[in-house]
Amino acid sequence: MSFLDVQSLSVRYGGIRAVRDVDIRVEEGETVALIGANGAGKSSMLNAISGLLDHGGHVYFDGANLTTQPVFERVRCGISLVPEGRGVFGRLTVEENLLMGAYLGSSRQDQESDLCRMYEFFPRLKERRRQTGGTLSGGEQQMLAIGRALMARPKLLLLDEPSMGLAPIMVEKIFEVIRGVSKTGVTILLVEQNARLALESSQRAYVMESGELSMTDESRSLLQSPKVRASYLGEAD
Ligand SMILES: Nc1ncnc2c1ncn2[C@@H]1O[C@H](COP(=O)(O)OP(=O)(O)O)[C@@H](O)[C@H]1O
Ligand SMILES: [Mg+2]
Repeated sequence: MSFLDVQSLSVRYGGIRAVRDVDIRVEEGETVALIGANGAGKSSMLNAISGLLDHGGHVYFDGANLTTQPVFERVRCGISLVPEGRGVFGRLTVEENLLMGAYLGSSRQDQESDLCRMYEFFPRLKERRRQTGGTLSGGEQQMLAIGRALMARPKLLLLDEPSMGLAPIMVEKIFEVIRGVSKTGVTILLVEQNARLALESSQRAYVMESGELSMTDESRSLLQSPKVRASYLGEAD
């Protein structure tokens, strides 16, 4: 069994089947991308894996069957989501936002040392730690959302559209951060509409189309695939 082993996952919204029998595996230490058009079902996948959405199928992680476990139990097992749109609390300070992600049951002392770790990783957040979340730029909010997820000491980070709405220079910065997180040993499942960036930043990838998987391969092979180039990289066939 893989580190993350998602079997036959399905998600419904009323009568709409947004995800249909999707199998995804991620090995420990890998960065795996999930790409696909708007509405393909990528966010539904991540939300289901993190336990925010009811789903069919099975979710195994780090040897445990999490299929029927609620969000907090999945977080406790090491799964942390950085949601689409970031979910920063605009009226809370940067530090309060970070503490919202603190590892469950951690002591004040542990939380202090986790905060220090985050501030080393994100000097920008340290400078702004007394500012409210709503006053940060989009890129800073994305850093904050990633920092908050890291406060839970995840083994698997689920990232939903980290580059969305950011200026190119900020996109670069965020992806530097993501590579840095990967270097610390955290496994990553990355959802990105910027398919080129996603493929260049991952070892393997899955392509989703209308709620189903259409392709999977090593990312460098997908970058060469005529179908991927035409459909997702904006290149002529
Ligand atoms: N809360 C919801 N209620 C009803 N339909 C939804 C809801 N969220 C998403 N959907 C639908 O499910 C499909 C997949 O959406 P989503 O997982 O957000 O795709 P993606 O992240 O790939 O853009 C889309 O058709 C979308 O309209
Ligand atoms: Mg989405």
